Amino acid sequence: KESSILLLICCVFIAYCEASDRHDVRKFPEGFLFGAATAAYQIEGGFNEDGKSESIWDRLSHQVPSVVQDGSTGDIADDSYHLYKRDVEMMRELGLDFYRFSLSWTRILPTSFPDKINAAGVEYYNNLIDEMLKYNIFPLVTLYHWDLPQKLMDMGGWTNPHIVDWYADYARVAFETFGNKVKHWITINEPKEICYLGYATGLLAPRIKGSGYADYMCSKNVLMAHAKAYHIYDEEFRPKQNGSIFISISAEWNEPESEIHAEAADDKAQFDWGQYAHPIFSKTGGYPEEMTQIISRKSAEQGFYRSRLPEFSPEEVEYVKGTSDFFCLNHYSTQVVYRNESAVGYYDTPSHDDDVGVRIYQKEEWRIGKSQVTMYVPWGFYKLLKTIREKYNNPPIFITENGFATHGGLEDNDRVTYYRGYLNSVLDAIEDGSDIRGYTTWSLMDNFEWVRGYTEKFGLYEVDYESPARTRTPRKSAFVYKEIIRSRSLDH
Ligand code: NOJ
Repeated sequence: KESSILLLICCVFIAYCEASDRHDVRKFPEGFLFGAATAAYQIEGGFNEDGKSESIWDRLSHQVPSVVQDGSTGDIADDSYHLYKRDVEMMRELGLDFYRFSLSWTRILPTSFPDKINAAGVEYYNNLIDEMLKYNIFPLVTLYHWDLPQKLMDMGGWTNPHIVDWYADYARVAFETFGNKVKHWITINEPKEICYLGYATGLLAPRIKGSGYADYMCSKNVLMAHAKAYHIYDEEFRPKQNGSIFISISAEWNEPESEIHAEAADDKAQFDWGQYAHPIFSKTGGYPEEMTQIISRKSAEQGFYRSRLPEFSPEEVEYVKGTSDFFCLNHYSTQVVYRNESAVGYYDTPSHDDDVGVRIYQKEEWRIGKSQVTMYVPWGFYKLLKTIREKYNNPPIFITENGFATHGGLEDNDRVTYYRGYLNSVLDAIEDGSDIRGYTTWSLMDNFEWVRGYTEKFGLYEVDYESPARTRTPRKSAFVYKEIIRSRSLDH
């Protein structure tokens, strides 16, 4: 009798384990896509090979004394200009559905303009794309990931409204040249980083310290350039090429320090990413109301005759509205926001945080590992996805970047924790009704992390910068991501 009771207990226990196991496995929806991302200047190298001309990042990284943390450059980087076959092999090892990479404007158009198309540059991208397509990995191609031709910078870069046409001409060449094979395009990567960090805080190239004007001039021109490329694709290419086109917007979650700072956190979000999302995804279009009002008020207080924000005309509002097939989102982490109107000049130059009257910081308790750089706040991602769903009438979302930086090591358990936590938030948001179509890790492999050089590592694959072969080795996170992709699910 005792043994049959024992047997019964065992059976119940096994059944319970199986049931809870099943419960702990969370499936991604049918058709959900997984990929990994990189960008041209961060991985290609071959900075002056085969006719490529100088970009603002070539110029900046060669500056003496260096402004890059470890004094490095992207001259060779991961040498993907020569090692693209190994890159595709890694994509196959991971089982990726797609690979997101960017085109280098100066490799394709050395004069910046379509008067001369560089055959060697075109061949490089054709080789990469063909190699991917051979294994059914589809390309998601970013047209502009920060490496502006230096020649255009010498003419004012993103503050010159003529850039709308310069960029559109380049985009048309890309659609014409690769559009028979590339079906998914991202026009611009992270307008906030381009404008705010490039033309206000001066952290990134072209490192212009803000005047209180330049980043807003950049913002309007970037949005107009994006919209022009969208319309060109939509009208001239989509009918025959049948693809889709987006913009990738970066958004961190802004958590108010306490309830009394809720409005401050929301204002901060309006400046950081509403500035770019609202003109495209809202019903009314144009800049967010709060942002327009704040800048007008500050400009008047400062004695300016006009607002420092160049507004869209009613025609321009219509031209920009609705110009992205999905909401492509780059997200990394969360910051705490509090109101502080008086601390002007935080970046020793006027920045949009001064206009908003806020300051930010990150909480130490969000740190999960010693060598970690990115803070682990998966609930921040969840709140952000919810906000996008509610603010913009549940647009289809495609996550075009999400990732975790460390200072190195193959046993990257913290990165594994991060990916699992953030993917769980994706599943939570989907359960709540968000229409999330895909997910992209940043990054396929370690690469040149802009002014941080090679000190911050984001890769599923480690890259050995000591070896001329730039040997790539999978980290633990690569194996975990591979299993997530293979099973199309997340277990606990
Ligand atoms: C944003 C950028 O798109 C990418 O170039 C950068 O390396 C990552 N985030 C990590 O900072």
